[in-house]
Amino acid sequence: MNEMRQAALEVRENAHVPYSGFAVGAALRGASGKIYRGCNVENVAYPEGTCAEAGAIAAMVAAGETSFTEGYVVAGSPLPVTPCGGCRQKLAEFGAGDVVVTMATVEGAERSLTIAGLLPGAFDPSFLGR
Ligand code: THU
Repeated sequence: MNEMRQAALEVRENAHVPYSGFAVGAALRGASGKIYRGCNVENVAYPEGTCAEAGAIAAMVAAGETSFTEGYVVAGSPLPVTPCGGCRQKLAEFGAGDVVVTMATVEGAERSLTIAGLLPGAFDPSFLGR
């Protein structure tokens, strides 16, 4: 099995999802080649929950990397899961527009989109004028 898919499936097993029951696993390959993983972590105060993608980004940044070259997200949805709007912005912070994110079902269906495809017209640092 593709190592990104395997990493995402493995970390998905640790998802803390007592409220939605919807477990998600994410894997990001840092520029160094190392793979970082994250799962969704829900909270009884619902808005405090975090997505799998955010967890993988946090692991990558905590390890000292600030860019990734590919992503993989898997969930138990009927169709390949797509990152929420907030996660699209978070992914765009650390991935170039041509970086491919593969979204998948547990059964193995996959759909791939670039970061630019996930978030066309993203707000980026150029708008800050510096
Ligand atoms: N979720 C993710 O972790 N990533 C996605 O791409 C879609 C949604 C989580 C948030 C929440 O814990 C659960 O899935 C249901 O929305």
